[in-house]
Amino acid sequence: MMSPDDSVVKLIRSLKLLVALLGVALGLLLILLLTVPFGAREFGSAVPTGKEVTEIKPANKDPHMPWKGPSEKDISKLSPAEQQMVRYGKELIVHTADYLGPKGRVKHLSNGMNCQNCHLDAGGKPWGNNYFAVEATYPKFRARSGKIETQTKRINDCFERSLNGERLDEQSNEMTALLAYMRWMGTGVPPRKLPEGSGIYKIHDLERAADPVAGKVVYEQKCQSCHQTAGEGVLASDEMHYLFPPLWGKHSYNTGAGLYRISNLAGYVKVNMPLGASYDAPQLTDEQAWDVAAFINSMPRPQKDLSKDWPDPASKPFDHPFGPYADPFPEKQHKYGPFNPIKDWQKQHKSLNTKYLSMAAPEEENLYL
Ligand code: HEC
Ligand code: HEC
Repeated sequence: MMSPDDSVVKLIRSLKLLVALLGVALGLLLILLLTVPFGAREFGSAVPTGKEVTEIKPANKDPHMPWKGPSEKDISKLSPAEQQMVRYGKELIVHTADYLGPKGRVKHLSNGMNCQNCHLDAGGKPWGNNYFAVEATYPKFRARSGKIETQTKRINDCFERSLNGERLDEQSNEMTALLAYMRWMGTGVPPRKLPEGSGIYKIHDLERAADPVAGKVVYEQKCQSCHQTAGEGVLASDEMHYLFPPLWGKHSYNTGAGLYRISNLAGYVKVNMPLGASYDAPQLTDEQAWDVAAFINSMPRPQKDLSKDWPDPASKPFDHPFGPYADPFPEKQHKYGPFNPIKDWQKQHKSLNTKYLSMAAPEEENLYL
């Protein structure tokens, strides 16, 4: 016989079990309710909707992670006509000389170099002078011309200076293709922003002047095997383009080119040369990069008429090697340094520059280049 006490105990036990089960069920329901909507939202945003993948990638916030640019497979999301233009644009960047060089099959405009010789990996390498910021920052004011410049003007600047050649017709199929390629390379970059790793690496200052004599030794040890004793580079057997591009002499960039400014050349070389170096695996010390840049830019090269450049001398960058200057430092110091006294002077006399500064957005640090 069960005593009444026993049945009460049993009842209480089963009630406890019920409550516990209910509690577990409620808990599960709560977990489900909380996670599903968030999970769903995350999942939703990961689903490529075409537009999002090709047009709205978030800007890279991590300073150690450079912007990577669009991926080749995303090209298929463009219209067939656009795809064709982007691909032709890329072809022109990589094989410029085959189309537009001294033996080019479209026109003879340039010195035999390819855009890619300086804009590495078709202008897609972090700190390899890439094109990621172009679409987002042009048209922009540039103090070198004292004008608002379009992408077309900027591309033709490289034709006239870096490729020591002539302007490409603005209406040509080739210019249209180059612009389509720039637009594609800027995919996902918010307007007026410079993605991390765009353009040229800003190398640390030296306290002393860069030294061409020390730079010659670096050149002989680390560069000459490819770029040759007279800096003339090596032409391919078809003589259409270079296997190793020239660094000075009559087929190299002229005195109006961006690389003729020693900070640009040193920054470029530091994270890209000898071939195979990168920002996370550089092969030169800062001093070696500055000195070899000083050596290369002390050698002869084509001259450009620069009389129309920098209409306001106060807007010249610290390492622009041609006077007149607003500051008291000589041309030689502007060419090789030491640059800190010039930079300090420029900071103290910033008001000289207000006309230009007022036109610059703060994030456009490369505005004066
Ligand atoms: C000898 C080296 C060299 C060659 C060759 C060269 N460029 Fe450049 N280019 C530069 C340098 C240096 C800059 C300036 C980078 C800076 O100021 O950060 C530049 C800048 C540019 C810019 C502006 C980038 C920006 O973000 O503002 C464009 C566009 C450009 N080049 C297009 C071309 C095209 C197209 C070609 C081929 C027809 C070409 N370049 C060939 C060296 C070169
Ligand atoms: C293993 C061969 C090799 C070595 C060594 C090498 N380079 Fe280059 N360099 C190249 C190639 C190839 C390119 C063109 C890259 C391209 O078109 O993709 C280039 C491009 C350049 C450019 C831009 C294009 C131009 O001609 O103006 C500069 C500047 C440059 N190198 C400087 C140097 C310096 C300085 C060193 C030594 C510290 C060096 N290179 C060592 C192969 C080399």
